[in-house]
Amino acid sequence: MLKRHFVADLFLFALLAVLYTSCGETDNGGAPPKMTYNDAEQAMLKQGQEIAQAGFKVLSARLAAAIEKDGVNGAIPVCKEAAMSITDSLSKAVGLDVRRTSHKVRNIANAPDGIDKLMADYFTNFIDADKQWKPVLLPMKTRKEYRGYYPIIMNGQCSSCHGVVEKDIPNDTYELILQQYPSDQAVNFFPGSLRGMWVVTFNEDPAEVSGS
Ligand code: HEC
Repeated sequence: MLKRHFVADLFLFALLAVLYTSCGETDNGGAPPKMTYNDAEQAMLKQGQEIAQAGFKVLSARLAAAIEKDGVNGAIPVCKEAAMSITDSLSKAVGLDVRRTSHKVRNIANAPDGIDKLMADYFTNFIDADKQWKPVLLPMKTRKEYRGYYPIIMNGQCSSCHGVVEKDIPNDTYELILQQYPSDQAVNFFPGSLRGMWVVTFNEDPAEVSGS
């Protein structure tokens, strides 16, 4: 027999998330309000986290190598190609949809949908309030899908391309960025802030997988 484990429907969840975090009422370690995960859901959340961590590691290493070899300006095209090929090969390797998005994107191909935007707000609220966040697994009730959301946090390595214009990003670098991404929004981030998120989409219903 199929049993649904959805505790909160998406909009209720989003509303609660915003309300709870903005009022500073959350003391559940960053988990979404009133949201609990069954074993299968926890396994998904963990698998997605491993995928996101692997992606971040590979991308950071590629980026560092390119900057060392060709400088920041020379690393801009590498970043584009590496990001695409890494997310593509990750998706293929694990058989899941893997992507990166942000509330402020450089490449419009990474533009957020409505749910992505809510989740970016959700994590930003936690970070602004100095609270510890945790990744979130979100049931897409109507489509039998789950999405895992994993924050990507700014660090010093990112500043020369995503930091404060003129201060962190040299003018010639910013010009090159704008040439390739005329509607770039991915600047003026500070270390420690939310730069974006990895999103891993699972097409299965864990209730069926676990048979519970
Ligand atoms: C050499 C410049 C450079 C550096 C350094 C850099 N990025 Fe980027 N970043 C880019 C470019 C260029 C893109 C657009 C890639 C594309 O076309 O898909 C991008 C895209 C992204 C995206 C995808 C969402 C979007 O805005 O399109 C995220 C997330 C991101 N970067 C995070 C980071 C993080 C985190 C760091 C530090 C660990 C970092 N970047 C360092 C140049 C850089």
